[in-house]
Amino acid sequence: IKNIAVLTSGGDAPGMNAAIRAVVRACAYYNVKCTGIYRGYQGMIENDMVEMGPRTVKNIVNRGGTILKSARSTDFRTPEGRKQAYENLLANEVDALVVIGGDGSFKGGLALTKEFNFPIIGIPGTIDNDIAGTSHTIGFDSALNTVVDAIDKIRDTANSHNRLFFVEVMGRDAGHIALNAGIGAGAEEILIPEENIGFEKLIDSLERSRNSGKSSSIVVVTEGDSIGKTVFELGEQVKNTMPNYDVRVSVLGHLQRGGSPSCFDRVLASRFGVKAVESLLAGEHSMMVGLLNDKVVLSPIEKAVKSAGNGVDEELIRISDIVSI
Ligand code: F6P
Repeated sequence: IKNIAVLTSGGDAPGMNAAIRAVVRACAYYNVKCTGIYRGYQGMIENDMVEMGPRTVKNIVNRGGTILKSARSTDFRTPEGRKQAYENLLANEVDALVVIGGDGSFKGGLALTKEFNFPIIGIPGTIDNDIAGTSHTIGFDSALNTVVDAIDKIRDTANSHNRLFFVEVMGRDAGHIALNAGIGAGAEEILIPEENIGFEKLIDSLERSRNSGKSSSIVVVTEGDSIGKTVFELGEQVKNTMPNYDVRVSVLGHLQRGGSPSCFDRVLASRFGVKAVESLLAGEHSMMVGLLNDKVVLSPIEKAVKSAGNGVDEELIRISDIVSI
């Protein structure tokens, strides 16, 4: 392998830049050319590529977002798009590819491998942490810190006004952000898609909280929550059921994806980036790097994509019930 390409795809995540940096510098360390592909698979189709060296990735380890930019390419979902992308890889003399992204990005990479036998290694990068084969994806820890910080601030005002707040967090259809940030920020209830507690149980729990002396409450809700309503509908319904509650809704939105990566994410991204390059050079392909029991390991990408899932930790659900009593 003489030329390894790297791209970021799907929703960006803090720490992606640290991963790009590690890939580029590991290539330099092992005397391999490195090609950066802009805007994920879309840039591959449009031949938007640049040669990268160790100094092209200076001063980015601390920066959120991705210097290579990201995209969710619809063209790459077509056989014609993938063929064009493959031809551009050949034209640029790229021999292997590192894909930094989530399950959608890995599915794209797998298609390339299956159709053209092109070697790829995946690096899990998404704030959602919804990838099997790793305890942590790049960006998850940073997003958690951002969410906890935001909820701490909401708690100040909730407490001052004796209010009940519904705070919606990201996670698409996975409750990892809600569950972890909810415990970290001391939420009364956490609504996640993996566990449908139902409206009645939510009301019971909120009433119990009030009766036990809590004057304000925070409920963390995963987007596409377990009760099957939008967070605004949920807030409205609770207001109608418990008219003496002063209810407010706050949607944290895309601020969860931005900001400087945590030290944990920077170190994780550096470990993943180096391992990805070393794995390709060792002849591995169609694998994903991941963190299991604090060791960086490889697992087949096939297993990493969403169909395999990465269920929430049941233990955390139990802990959250106990500590919110
Ligand atoms: O996958 C990361 C994520 O931030 C999800 O949590 C969220 O559902 C989605 O991306 C939002 O995507 P977009 O930025 O395209 O609106």
